[in-house]
Amino acid sequence: MNILIVGRGGREHVLAWKVSESPRAHRVYVAPGNDGMAKVATLVDIKEDQHQAIVNFVKSNQIDLVIVGPEAPLMDGLVDALEDKGIRVFGPNQSAAIIEGSKQYAKQLMKDYHIPTAEAQVFEDVEQAKAYVMEKGAPIVIKADGLAAGKGVTVAETKEEAFAAIEYMLDDQQFGKAGERIVIEEFLEGEEFSLMAFVHGDTVYPMVLSQDHKRAFDDDFGPNTGGMGAYSPVPQISKRIFHQALHHILKPTARALVKEGRSFSGILYAGLIATEEGPKVIEFNARFGDPEAQVVLPRLESDLVEVIMNVLHEEPVDLVWSDEAVVGVVLASKGYPGEYEKFKPIHGLENVSEEALVFHAGTVCKKDQWLTNGGRVLLVASKEQRLEDAIKQAYDQVSKISTEHLFYRKDIASKAVRYYH
Ligand code: AMP
Ligand code: GLY
Repeated sequence: MNILIVGRGGREHVLAWKVSESPRAHRVYVAPGNDGMAKVATLVDIKEDQHQAIVNFVKSNQIDLVIVGPEAPLMDGLVDALEDKGIRVFGPNQSAAIIEGSKQYAKQLMKDYHIPTAEAQVFEDVEQAKAYVMEKGAPIVIKADGLAAGKGVTVAETKEEAFAAIEYMLDDQQFGKAGERIVIEEFLEGEEFSLMAFVHGDTVYPMVLSQDHKRAFDDDFGPNTGGMGAYSPVPQISKRIFHQALHHILKPTARALVKEGRSFSGILYAGLIATEEGPKVIEFNARFGDPEAQVVLPRLESDLVEVIMNVLHEEPVDLVWSDEAVVGVVLASKGYPGEYEKFKPIHGLENVSEEALVFHAGTVCKKDQWLTNGGRVLLVASKEQRLEDAIKQAYDQVSKISTEHLFYRKDIASKAVRYYH
């Protein structure tokens, strides 16, 4: 089969790597991809929003399967454009991707179908939003309604902080259209984790659990980012919580979307928090998590292409997972998630062990020199029998890369160690 992956980040790199291992894969392409993926796939110079060009490429290169990585093209209807032409594609159409694209929609769906989540209300008016904060008190969570690359969320410790976030989003329009409406929700306390699943209609095949580290700095300080590192498994989350999350959240959500005429096909991602009352939803995504995919897919022993084909054709799927642990550390440009410079040299990449998993996100190679080309630059992961060894190995490899222009968290997976046997 010839397979095209759409996207350019670390998630698309791990997808290309995994897909290229499949005995079924003949040619693997990534559009537009990044230079770091060139070893496992052929780069195609077409951007994610050039739908017609993607359709044309698929037609002229006998592509049998398209996998859409990021949220933006899903929201923009790339899947619809491909399906209209009879092209086989793995990813939700525009009407189903709304589960990620509008927090307001997701909240309403959860309310209507009794899917556990934080209590919330939507506001467009600054004064009404502030009055709600006065009534509910702090801590409280303020979110931009639309897509804001994981950065549109403020967990306000005080009312003043909440007011500032409301003004920032609604008055100053810092997130553009995504911030014209905000959702204010109850602060939930507990361990966070991510549960992703292959979904087709009301059929749900869950993956193993993972945990992201969203804050920029150690000990969860600093601003929210797209994710600074991840690991899998998550030993502090019990089997019971996993089952509750599957049966009370993921499966009912897939069924609800079918009922609403928005049948979902692709990867449904639940960002969850294990509260004292059981797991509750923080957010849904309509795609693989980044960096969660980079630590979950290396544990998948089944053939990813076969899994996706069987999901699409409604044939039984057998997901086999390695019991090893994977720990992935993100190296980001200094300044991220705020302003940062691009095209800074990355030294030492050549010293990283062949056994480490290195997934490129924001890199470019010019005259044999790797340069930074984004906020999140690289993810270095290790897979080991014991979680502690995976942490040590990942950091040993990270230390070979010069961090003149990069930074990374030193505590990825560290709190999980004491739960791990
Ligand atoms: P989101 O983009 O919705 O995933 O939110 C980003 C981060 O903000 C989450 O990973 C949580 O750490 C935090 N967060 C979001 N919603 C809540 C909530 N209701 N209670 C506590 N923390 C939250
Ligand atoms: N790592 C969280 C996300 O992909 O949204």
